[in-house]
Amino acid sequence: MSRKVFIAGNWKMNKTAAETAALCQALKEKFADVCPCKADVAVCPPFTSIATAIAELKGSNIKVGAQNIHWADNGAFTGEISGAMLKELGVEYVIIGHSERRQYFGETDETVNKRIQAALKYDLKPIVCIGETLEEREGDKTEAVLEKQIKGAFSGISADDFKKIVIAYEPVWAIGTGKTATPDMAEATHAFIRKVLAGLYGALAEETVIQYGGSMKPENSRELVAQPDIDGGLIGGAALKADSFHDLVKNAIG
Ligand code: PGA
Repeated sequence: MSRKVFIAGNWKMNKTAAETAALCQALKEKFADVCPCKADVAVCPPFTSIATAIAELKGSNIKVGAQNIHWADNGAFTGEISGAMLKELGVEYVIIGHSERRQYFGETDETVNKRIQAALKYDLKPIVCIGETLEEREGDKTEAVLEKQIKGAFSGISADDFKKIVIAYEPVWAIGTGKTATPDMAEATHAFIRKVLAGLYGALAEETVIQYGGSMKPENSRELVAQPDIDGGLIGGAALKADSFHDLVKNAIG
């Protein structure tokens, strides 16, 4: 098994360009002691801060991602950002289908699939988010929901392209709530996700990085990432300060 820990910060709608410059300078300093051999680390600022983050993090171990991508190459899509625009900036990853996009902006499995195809076309690595709501978990629908999200997201995606995919399992009820899935609960769900992926892509599923997301912090990152099927994290709140993001990563890699 050759999966490397991958931890990405999802800054959501936080940090102006000036605030981004300050945070990136602090991150660059702090992360000098994190060997890139042990973990891949990325930050995903808002679109308006991406160029600043890329400039500030040059020469560091930290990569930069975006939080969304439109599926069209260009055209009349007011407010949207294309793959070519992101690629030209030097973006490496793109978060797709975050639950907040699904909940507030009408994102569906179909649009997630189209955005994944666009990211792959522009050689950006998709971080594809899936996860169940509290109601779905309590109604014993978690596995059915995840299976549907996975099959919808990867419909028509070839095995070769699937190699570039990272998955973030984020139980919606754990995002920004301080409620983390217990390591056992998260592990069981990650193992299920890997089983569904194996049904679609065979042995490749063993290579797929599956991040956990939802109130991961320095205090629980070690125990979560120690689980056999949890390969890192997608971090919201704890990624907004250099100290907590650094400590979370350090603890996760031991
Ligand atoms: P959180 O957010 O770490 O603040 O719970 C995670 C996410 O939404 O990606």
